[in-house]
Amino acid sequence: MPLSVLKLLSHEDFRSGEEISRRLGLSRASVHNLVERARALGVDIQAVRGRGYRLAVPYSWLAPARLDAGAAALGYRLHIHDMLDSTNTHLLAAAQSGQAHASVVVAEMQTRGRGRRGREWLAPLGSSLAFSLLWRFQRPLTALSGLSLAVGVGLVRALRAMGLQAAQVKWPNDVLLGGKKLAGILIETHGDMLGAAAAVIGIGINVRADLALAERLGMPAASLEEGLGAAPDRNDVLLGVLTALAGVLSEFDAHGFKPFVLEWEAMHAWQGLPVSVTGMGRDTLEGRAAGVDESGSLRLETAVGVQQIYSGEVGLRRMGQS
Ligand code: BTN
Repeated sequence: MPLSVLKLLSHEDFRSGEEISRRLGLSRASVHNLVERARALGVDIQAVRGRGYRLAVPYSWLAPARLDAGAAALGYRLHIHDMLDSTNTHLLAAAQSGQAHASVVVAEMQTRGRGRRGREWLAPLGSSLAFSLLWRFQRPLTALSGLSLAVGVGLVRALRAMGLQAAQVKWPNDVLLGGKKLAGILIETHGDMLGAAAAVIGIGINVRADLALAERLGMPAASLEEGLGAAPDRNDVLLGVLTALAGVLSEFDAHGFKPFVLEWEAMHAWQGLPVSVTGMGRDTLEGRAAGVDESGSLRLETAVGVQQIYSGEVGLRRMGQS
């Protein structure tokens, strides 16, 4: 696994191939092979003959001991993986076989990260944070509407506490910085309609600016590095978000989305602005984003009155000035 080599490399000093092969108990050829595989994953590794290897930029790897202690203090059970297909897929399967409440699965890398609307979630190794959290609610599935918006509030609270005052939400559940996507939320539920519901809350955050990623996505993406001036430690980001979410999810379980409505609206990037709503197989609707109601649906002020737009396969696009 290329990560074993990467974790031995630093941005400051070169480490020789000989030392790496000794530390890992591998042949020089295997080390070379792992370095090439890491490069293929998008990691920029400098190699200088006679000196060895060095990372072109500093990476912050997940620190198991620190994360375990921090997460346990918050009441979470943390599971750290180097590589998973998708933290949501993994945790959803575990939830179905009884995985405990407040379990968190985080991976250095996902090979099949999933976004909303069946899209792929691309997150280059070391440049992003990808994790999922299982929350077992007292309330039934039918009472989870607005959950993804409440999670957005938690995420923005955490980012602002880190100094990123400009972080905003976008209906229904994106987090933006300067109008560009900084983080995404994918919530998948499990349970029957009447009994207590469980939700797997997947969060992906762009930590380091990655031009190659923006190119592959075909749209501009924002990063914490860009907003804060330097890439923060991914462990701090994860613990900050878990701290904020513990409070938000407990409050949501007790009172639903209602207590978050005003805060969400104050965080909304397009609050009061002209927007167009597409999706759900209907025509584009145009109007003004007037706010959200207690179920998390968007109140769209149109020429023929206010329309409720429910969460789901709906997109929101900013229109030209009006
Ligand atoms: C979106 O489309 O905006 C939602 C993106 C959610 C991505 C996260 S990364 C961690 C978790 N595992 C996944 O496969 N997806 C979510």
